[in-house]
Amino acid sequence: MKISIIGQGYVGQTLAVGAAMSGHEVIGLDINAELISDLACGDSFVPGLDKKLISEIIAKKVYLPTTDFELMKGSKIVIIAVPTPIDRNREPDLNAVLAACKSINKVVIDPTLIISESTSYPGTFRDVIKPTVEKGSKTTFTFAVAPERVDPGNQDWNISNTARVISGLTEEATDRAIEFYSSFCKSIYRASSPEVAEAAKLLENTFRQVNIALINEVSEVMSKLGISANEVVNAASTKPFGFMKFQPSIGVGGHCIPVDPEYLTYFAKKVGSESKLTNLANEINLQRPKQIAQRIKKHLGGDLTGVRIQMAGIAYKTGVPDMRESPAIELITELSELGAVVSWHDPIVKTFMAQKSLPLDPSVNLGLIVTPHREINFKPWEEADTPVIDLSVGQINLGWSKYL
Ligand SMILES: NC(=O)c1ccc[n+]([C@@H]2O[C@H](COP(=O)([O-])OP(=O)(O)OC[C@H]3O[C@@H](n4cnc5c(N)ncnc54)[C@H](O)[C@@H]3O)[C@@H](O)[C@H]2O)c1
Repeated sequence: MKISIIGQGYVGQTLAVGAAMSGHEVIGLDINAELISDLACGDSFVPGLDKKLISEIIAKKVYLPTTDFELMKGSKIVIIAVPTPIDRNREPDLNAVLAACKSINKVVIDPTLIISESTSYPGTFRDVIKPTVEKGSKTTFTFAVAPERVDPGNQDWNISNTARVISGLTEEATDRAIEFYSSFCKSIYRASSPEVAEAAKLLENTFRQVNIALINEVSEVMSKLGISANEVVNAASTKPFGFMKFQPSIGVGGHCIPVDPEYLTYFAKKVGSESKLTNLANEINLQRPKQIAQRIKKHLGGDLTGVRIQMAGIAYKTGVPDMRESPAIELITELSELGAVVSWHDPIVKTFMAQKSLPLDPSVNLGLIVTPHREINFKPWEEADTPVIDLSVGQINLGWSKYL
């Protein structure tokens, strides 16, 4: 089956490879020409995607990354996988979704199933995507929602073994979407409406946001006692039921956890309801870099003026080059405002805001382990016995105790 995927980022590429590997002919569309030319050479930035495999499916002509939207013509299914960020007021920014819908409206002339994998609030599909795709079009469209749950870089859970929640605007659309996803996904949950599927996605990430906030709050309280929240969490998680382990951190990052709960908050307001807990969780997590900077200041005797600090890893999580909403950015700002001279080392991010990753510097006054990518060689700090604080969620075994 010929399918087109609009958006070739983390989600779009993962889906393109999954679908092409299961026998579909995939057109991967993106407005970013540089990304498309890299992809055409098999060069993908998505962790966990095999570059050799990408080159193979391109050579077999079952995957075509392109900026030419006319190639969407003749697709049986068009899937939307574009970003759904928040704007300056922390409200949903659906501009990319609207642009994707307009490109479908402009190009597609045959009956087509339109699927959205982009995360949004309940009703986006029915009230925003459907009318924008259909506006003035002479052909008929069917619609289904199938929110993506991929966790880039996760070795255990992938597009094939992570169940997919699907719902169409009609039973026929649901059936067709299920038929398509079943070709590469082992388990499908048929939701009773697109709104349920959209809301389920928001719930999943809000659940994480709230639990991370709880543990971060506990960390702040425990720090006053001089107790490690990490140890408290480890102790609590020996209970085999009724407890799920979340670890303290410097905050949340990426395109999902800090963003999706804002969609829920927006939706709650829109329907005249409240989302007090979600708002509070957002607030707690957003405060984290500031709190951590203050704790570091206290740790170093109350004055950071001229103190040279280097961060190891600045991406929002290990193994990815993703800087979207990374709390490390805020931590750099906070520490700098307190007078510290902050540099960073991240062999995966390499360049951020026109600054290049610097080598790990053993002469700094303090090393901060923020995102311990496997690629970071901590030897210079180890050998020089550089004072180090480990703020990371992951475990590294260098004898540096966890600080949070
Ligand atoms: N990244 C994740 O782990 C993840 C997981 C589950 C769901 N999601 C959701 O999936 C959606 C996509 O996220 P992502 O992480 O893949 O984003 P991304 O930024 O990695 O990729 C999106 C791509 O869409 C392209 N794009 C933007 N506007 C376009 C347009 N009009 N036409 C064609 N291409 C366009 C961008 O150039 C970009 O390459 C979001 O709604 C996100 O919330 C993301």
